[in-house]
Amino acid sequence: MSNTVSTAELLQQVQQRVSPNRFAHILRVADLALEIARANGLDEEKTYLAAILHDAARDMSPEELIEQAPPENEVERSHPLALHGRVSRRLAEGWGVHDPEVLEAIEGHVYGVNPAHQIGMAVYVADSSEPGRGVNEDIRELALKGALLEAYQRAVVSKVTYLQGKGITPHPRTVEAYRRLKNGTGSH
Ligand SMILES: [Fe+2]
Repeated sequence: MSNTVSTAELLQQVQQRVSPNRFAHILRVADLALEIARANGLDEEKTYLAAILHDAARDMSPEELIEQAPPENEVERSHPLALHGRVSRRLAEGWGVHDPEVLEAIEGHVYGVNPAHQIGMAVYVADSSEPGRGVNEDIRELALKGALLEAYQRAVVSKVTYLQGKGITPHPRTVEAYRRLKNGTGSH
């Protein structure tokens, strides 16, 4: 990989920016994402890297997030905390991570990725089903059995159903991922 910094240095950068609880979550996501990568034949190094960076900006204030990544639509304007995926991506770029698959997985962990993007799906699933959350064990088990697409499908459907139940409009990217999953098209 063409990254200029080591994983240890990146972990240190992340640790300096998040609370101890958040950092513990990040480490659990990274461990699980690595297992999911192994179970599904994905690039382990890239998956692990995306997982350790996915929440780098998660503890920044809404004001800081808006400054770093101005909202691009109404959903983002009304939920500025959800901009942390895009800001985490920018932090990673600033730290010398240039792999587009890794960067897309970092940004996509909030709103979802195209189902053709396996590393993105692995990080999304690991984030929503890491053991510390105490939910989505079924999704974790599916992913660890090698059924990553099915696990991702379940995670996105449950997110959209949850948002709709609360009367919250899902982000256009989440809707797009949902639509592709429902139509069974993983292609671009
Ligand atoms: Fe996150």
